[in-house]
Amino acid sequence: MTMLKIENLRIDIATQNGTLHAVRGVDLEVEKGEVVGIVGESGCGKSLTAMGLLGLLPRSAQRSADRIRFLERDLTKASVAELRGIRGNRIGMIFQDPMTALNPSYTIGDQLTEGYLHHRKTARKEAVERAIYLLNRTGITAARSRLSQYPHQLSGGLRQRIVIAMALMCEPDLIIADEPTTALDVTVQAQILRLIKDIQAEMAAGVIIITHDLGVVAQMADRVAVMYAGEVVEAGPTHSIFAAPQHPYTIGLLSCMPDAARRGRLGQIPGVVPSLIGERKGCAFRTRCPHATQPCRADIAIHRRAGGHSWRCTIPDQTANTRKS
Ligand SMILES: Nc1ncnc2c1ncn2[C@@H]1O[C@H](COP(=O)(O)OP(=O)(O)OP(=O)(O)O)[C@@H](O)[C@H]1O
Ligand SMILES: [Mg+2]
Repeated sequence: MTMLKIENLRIDIATQNGTLHAVRGVDLEVEKGEVVGIVGESGCGKSLTAMGLLGLLPRSAQRSADRIRFLERDLTKASVAELRGIRGNRIGMIFQDPMTALNPSYTIGDQLTEGYLHHRKTARKEAVERAIYLLNRTGITAARSRLSQYPHQLSGGLRQRIVIAMALMCEPDLIIADEPTTALDVTVQAQILRLIKDIQAEMAAGVIIITHDLGVVAQMADRVAVMYAGEVVEAGPTHSIFAAPQHPYTIGLLSCMPDAARRGRLGQIPGVVPSLIGERKGCAFRTRCPHATQPCRADIAIHRRAGGHSWRCTIPDQTANTRKS
């Protein structure tokens, strides 16, 4: 069952230099119980896509979409009150920096139970029991005594576990995790990703995981959407994206993955992401693309293959070029 279907999402931000078209017609689907990764370099519109779906955007931003269907509703038509009822309740959010998600002046217990009490209108005792259950579930020891602690008394890894527990309090149908582990060291990172994956499987929740790290995508995602300069340039099942990437940008990202030969150092695609200010024609990646030709300046067709693999490129099959790039 498709639980989320975003069609033609656009987000424009008014800036001093003109309108910044940060998200340029993004389509994205999440099935029940599926993990979808959104991957791409910094500034390509990953976070805004997620925030746009929830209606959490800066004042200077304007959103439009043909449809954002979540379960049985169209979120483009939802009122502010309806959206508030969905956020933190049917959709749980986990952000990169736990300190921005946690309020330094409230106890862990208050923060964990607040949303649950608001959405469920239950007795405090029930909310506290649920919080303790989830703290245990996220691998936090001495859970009950943590409830009276403040965020600054905890390590980064513990804080991130608490943010995860917080996102899960109301048993959301969809979890959005925006760079949930970038602030953590590698061992803790692996534990947290494992935890999100386990809980997701247990609850059969849909997950959108946003990352610039293809390693995270390989470990977590069933399907991937690769974003570049505000567009999804390639999307498909994780195994086909890794085995037969089609868009030169995806191929570039994959060739930048750390490997043993490079001693774990991340490579970089040469060149810079184009400005997002103003309208654009043709492929945004052509300025950095090793295969760019004249047709790349015109509108780009989307190629689709069986199995749901699609990409936007003038080259209908990149397989022959994959080894060279
Ligand atoms: N409040 C804002 N005002 C102006 N521009 C913004 C604002 N928020 C985001 N942008 C711009 O919109 C674009 C997309 O931003 P977004 O945060 O979605 O990128 P991202 O893919 O999540 O990047 P990162 O990997 O660094 O988190 C960027 O060019 C960014 O500079
Ligand atoms: Mg971001």
